[in-house]
Amino acid sequence: MSIARYPEWQAEAAATLIAPIVAAESGPVLLCLQAVQAHFGYVPGDAVGMIAEACNVSRADVHGVFTFYADLRDTSPPAVPVRLCAAEACQAVGGRKLKTDWATACGEDAELAALTGVDEPIFCLGNCALGPAALVDGELMGCADVARLKGAVTQAQAAVEAS
Ligand code: FES
Repeated sequence: MSIARYPEWQAEAAATLIAPIVAAESGPVLLCLQAVQAHFGYVPGDAVGMIAEACNVSRADVHGVFTFYADLRDTSPPAVPVRLCAAEACQAVGGRKLKTDWATACGEDAELAALTGVDEPIFCLGNCALGPAALVDGELMGCADVARLKGAVTQAQAAVEAS
């Protein structure tokens, strides 16, 4: 199953996104990276050079900013990304077991695995009191378990397909 939610990379569209940011902001590298990711779902390698040129900085400068922020990605995201909190408070209330259970569920269901992609750990969602916490398609979930994660994935998938 494939559900597309971001347009394919287009340099012209990216240049259109970047130009007003560069014109209006000083030190706009991070804003440009965020704008490209918000539009295309990720920051392709081509965008790094484009942003460097537009901001009049080196590619290394842009790469440095890109690699500093773990939420910036250089590959297309899965249709419904699931990220499980891997920080200490969530680990203390079952986060490790949830991670194992989720991996098992994805291992048993190829469609679920393809839809949600690889769990990219995230470190504290600010929801420690309701751990284990997770993000499903960017939406925060507390007291997460496999059944609730699957339900949220189904809802998010339906929303993406309806949009
Ligand atoms: S440690 Fe998981 S939300 Fe804070």
